[in-house]
Amino acid sequence: MKTAFISSEVVPYAKTGGLADVSGSLPIALSELGVDVKVFMPKYYSVDEFKYNLYYDDYIGEMKIRTGGHPHSAWVYKGHLPNSNVELYTIHNPHFFHRHKIYTNDWDEDERFIFFQKAVIETIQRLNWTPDLFHINDWQTSLIPLFIKDNYSWDKLFNRASTLLTIHNVGYQGVFGMDAAIKAEISKELISLGGPAEQNGAVNFLKTGILYSEIINTVSETYAKELLSPEYGAGMEGILALRKDDLYGIVNGVDYTVWNPETDKHIPYHYSIDDLSGKEKNKKFLMEHMQLNYEEDVPLIGIVSRLVRQKGFDIFAEALPHLINSNCKWVVLGSGENVYEELFEQYARTFPDKFSVYLGYNNELAHLIEAGADIFLMPSRYEPCGLNQIYSLKYGTVPVVRKTGGLADTVHDWNELNSLGMDIGNGFSFSEYSAWALAHSVNRAINDYHNKPIWKKIQRNGMIKDYSWKTSAIKYLELYNKSITKRN
Ligand code: ADP
Ligand code: GLC
Repeated sequence: MKTAFISSEVVPYAKTGGLADVSGSLPIALSELGVDVKVFMPKYYSVDEFKYNLYYDDYIGEMKIRTGGHPHSAWVYKGHLPNSNVELYTIHNPHFFHRHKIYTNDWDEDERFIFFQKAVIETIQRLNWTPDLFHINDWQTSLIPLFIKDNYSWDKLFNRASTLLTIHNVGYQGVFGMDAAIKAEISKELISLGGPAEQNGAVNFLKTGILYSEIINTVSETYAKELLSPEYGAGMEGILALRKDDLYGIVNGVDYTVWNPETDKHIPYHYSIDDLSGKEKNKKFLMEHMQLNYEEDVPLIGIVSRLVRQKGFDIFAEALPHLINSNCKWVVLGSGENVYEELFEQYARTFPDKFSVYLGYNNELAHLIEAGADIFLMPSRYEPCGLNQIYSLKYGTVPVVRKTGGLADTVHDWNELNSLGMDIGNGFSFSEYSAWALAHSVNRAINDYHNKPIWKKIQRNGMIKDYSWKTSAIKYLELYNKSITKRN
């Protein structure tokens, strides 16, 4: 089985969110199952060839990739995903990829990823490597199944190649003006009203991927169902309903070589399910670092997130005036929309010993919060999978989440299950999207925190569960086979 795994972000080279974590770990798990997988991504500024041992592939040489009738040079830098045999191919073109951010609002954002996708296809041609399957991820790679069936259909290499599209977040679709079709060099009929690449008078990359891929999946079972409703489908629910027999949900795995309190290289004190004493020391260390006074019996609540609408910060903002009176302290790490950044800064100024914030991206601090906080909050409006609650479970940091998408599949409410006579809960969750429901669940968690035997049980229930890729990678392999059968 030969698979080209294509993604716009991959850990450790470039990351804005969970897509990067998945793209850096799932291919390794697949290769351990015997899949010959090669990973493709753009060579952004952060993808330093010296730091990551990448070398210029002069066998492939300089390629001329055409977008909108104009040729652009592409060069390939090759290496391996860390501690693995999985080959990594990064597409180099400073004009397109050496920008201040991975994703931009620049006028040629569409062209950047059209260029990337065509460069991946032409790299594969030069390698003369026949993938059985293209595993594409999100809108940035969603034109590939159309390209191989149309623009590059002359090449027999792709005759039997099938595509699996993984939707990590339907809220981002790659919506561009009609001239994106000219840049992509796709035929006019495709963007006529109701055409496969058209949606609401614009070119829609994700829709194209949904219609041209053999199989589609998303990153949890609950989100796969939610996607079919107008509330969660973000306008794609109708198109996805057409493909509902080919739509699956597979919950993300996580990489325990990176996210594990017993070995985590970013935290000062290691600990395990059998001896949690290191956790308390991390809490003290984290609180000092964030200039909060450590008090043993006051729970510390952590947040690590993109500060955007998806993540539920509107209801959190509404709940904060009440929550700030609860007996707990806060540490927030994130960056995103100004309203939330300013609000959190204001809270940190007004309540310096209760509320601390770090605005920006900081991987080490993310690890330290997972290890040092007692409770982890994720009140998402929607959440395709979510990784931080899974990391939290492993770190004995009890998650409080809204019951949606992957959060609903991985976090099980302690009180709710307890009332049914089961002591298997691993966190706290609420269904109604409201400030009241959020505050109520946070306060339930704070209450139970003071009941040490119960709290230990909740922590244990989370820590024993295995969310490594073992199970999910096998499910991906099954989808690969379905996809290949379907194409042939
Ligand atoms: P999403 O991909 O929607 O942002 P996930 O929960 O799947 O949500 O993944 C988020 C990933 O990004 C996690 O690995 C998390 O630790 C990381 N992350 C988010 N914000 C920050 C930040 N400000 N600094 C460091 N890491 C962050
Ligand atoms: C997206 C989703 C997140 C998911 C991640 C990886 O960014 O928002 O829920 O965990 O992709 O699949």
